[in-house]
Amino acid sequence: MKKLLITLSALTAMVIAPLQASASPQDDLDSFRSYFNQHFPGVALQDYGNGIYAIDHVRRFEWQESEEFPPYEEALEIGKNLFEKYNIGSCFKKGGKGIKQNYPYFDQKSGKVRTLEQDLMACLKRNGVDTKAEKLGYKKGKLAAISAYMASTSNGKKQNVVVPEDDERAMAAYEDGKTFFYAKRGQLNFSCADCHIYNAGKMARGNLLSPALGQTSHFPVWRKKWAGNSSDPLKGLGTIQRRYGGCNKQVRAKSLKAQASSYNNLEYFHTYMSNGIELNGPAVRQ
Ligand code: HEC
Repeated sequence: MKKLLITLSALTAMVIAPLQASASPQDDLDSFRSYFNQHFPGVALQDYGNGIYAIDHVRRFEWQESEEFPPYEEALEIGKNLFEKYNIGSCFKKGGKGIKQNYPYFDQKSGKVRTLEQDLMACLKRNGVDTKAEKLGYKKGKLAAISAYMASTSNGKKQNVVVPEDDERAMAAYEDGKTFFYAKRGQLNFSCADCHIYNAGKMARGNLLSPALGQTSHFPVWRKKWAGNSSDPLKGLGTIQRRYGGCNKQVRAKSLKAQASSYNNLEYFHTYMSNGIELNGPAVRQ
């Protein structure tokens, strides 16, 4: 395994320079996309929303079969019921439906990035739910199920994260997320970009590495690894920040708490890079 990772890291020596610090978010997006266009010339932009299945035909076939009876279906139903039970629609624009494509966003009031999960937790509290007693956490379980239901109401809408360039605080949050994405970390000294840009399409620990483009379109996801043998229908579900934690641990770096500002800023940059890609969550992933 170690040898494999060393092979990967050797390959990163040949890569293009990371995005320039002085570029505008739109410039960043253009070069991000054109990198993948050059490396995966047959893959259409919208297909990146399908992760590794956009670039691997054998796995795509298995995955399409699994999506015929999706293992997250029950979780989605639970999420819908909780959404209604806790009157979540009362806290959001458009009754909370068809809005996920605008998340995360920069909140002028607090001067910080806000994620859907944060707004969801705030809403539950506002509506008098005892979130501690109900064991509502950010990464999985009931909150992930409500988030999955909300995501599903945005399916087909194009990701549309806004970075207001005239707001220094928003730009700082965006730059912070970008720096996080390109920074090497952990004992293995790997950045997100090392695995999901420069080595996308290659194998690591028996997993095919997905392109970073489109990675955010389908969260929360359902993974067998998370579900294990549990009969709890919510067990396999996780939010994007649960996944960030897992990827940090893969390189033996410490994972941060979900909704830490560094992860929110990362989610801001990471999701902005997939602007224009249609939402298709929740989804099954390896
Ligand atoms: C050592 C390599 C490695 C590094 C570094 C790494 N990841 Fe991953 N990541 C993986 C593997 C392996 C998977 C599972 C296969 C896949 O979908 O790419 C994965 C999956 C993901 C997924 C899910 C993809 C999907 O389609 O659902 C996301 C999102 C993700 N990584 C984000 C990140 C971010 C953000 C970072 C930096 C904090 C990061 N990763 C760092 C190896 C890595």
